[in-house]
Amino acid sequence: MDRIKRIAGHFLPLGSAKAKVAVLGAAGGIGQPLSLLLKNSSLIGELSLYDVANTAGVACDLSHISTACKVKGYSGAGQLHDALRGCQMVVIPAGVPRKPGMTRDDLFNINAGIVAVLCEAIAAVCPDAWVLIISNPVNSTVPIAAEIFKRAGTYHPTRLFGVTTLDVVRAEAFIAELLGADPKDVSVPVVGGHAGATILPLLSQAKPQLQLEPPRAQALMARIQDAGTEVVNAKAGAGSATLSMAWAAARFAEACLRAMAGEGGVVECAYVASSLTSLPFFASPVRLGRSGVEEFLPLGPMNELEQRNYDTMLPELAGSIQKGVNFVQKRQ
Ligand code: NAI
Repeated sequence: MDRIKRIAGHFLPLGSAKAKVAVLGAAGGIGQPLSLLLKNSSLIGELSLYDVANTAGVACDLSHISTACKVKGYSGAGQLHDALRGCQMVVIPAGVPRKPGMTRDDLFNINAGIVAVLCEAIAAVCPDAWVLIISNPVNSTVPIAAEIFKRAGTYHPTRLFGVTTLDVVRAEAFIAELLGADPKDVSVPVVGGHAGATILPLLSQAKPQLQLEPPRAQALMARIQDAGTEVVNAKAGAGSATLSMAWAAARFAEACLRAMAGEGGVVECAYVASSLTSLPFFASPVRLGRSGVEEFLPLGPMNELEQRNYDTMLPELAGSIQKGVNFVQKRQ
């Protein structure tokens, strides 16, 4: 009976219950604005805010906003399980961000362990929840989560996501700027992974269509790939993208919640367990449904520049995936 309830727990019956969502790392640079945006969602009934410290103030502050969503704060490892109890979705922005001169991979040593511990708790408390990972390096932290869930016997590949929405949001913003268009009218798939060269915006498939000479297309692609570093340098040691990331994560979480509630035709790009390429994980547009990823949309035709980037990115992404798998295999 308990098992039946548990399986039912990750579905939101059409038009009825609202979701309970946990944010792990909620007191951080991304966690706070993300929690603010989620507090505004009509699809969330309860927000569970967890961090190692300083969560009480964030939760108290947000709880004074007059939206229906309830907010509760949990601080310290002793309250992690309580924070996760009954959650249908867990969003993870916990970990350290980049400083100038660092790559996302430089964060591996600290963030890998943080993500592993948090995923062990998810496996124990809300094993059927949709899990949205923001903590970098996403190319490795998602395989880490998958291995932890496999070990616990709770792996649901269709409900584990690396959040790459910020790459899409940036691509939409930069293209809109270039075309003088409203960003809401722009769409562009960004595939691959979420670090440097593994971020592959398929500009030839952008809508409205872009008419760019190869050097300008190359420059736009490079700007999208390096946009995170643009923010890291502009913040000059005070962290990486937080506000745009929070907005992007809220957009992705909302898309997942709409799909979970039964809305059809929800499509977003995400880094997921995928059968589209030879790699076990790959970011692409996916169609979301009530049980998670229901369809991988085809990558579509690539021009010469995109194909070259695609070919060179695959070995780097494969290495990052393997690094994540090795980390869990070595872990007791
Ligand atoms: P931050 O340092 O401002 O906040 C991180 C929060 O995580 C802090 O409040 C900290 O106390 C908390 N934390 C640390 N260990 C924890 C644990 N074991 N359990 C729960 N919470 C814990 O960092 P920021 O700027 O919010 O970035 C967070 C992560 O998001 C970084 O890894 C960063 O690289 C990544 N990021 C990912 C992006 C993406 O596109 N996927 C974009 C931008 C950042």
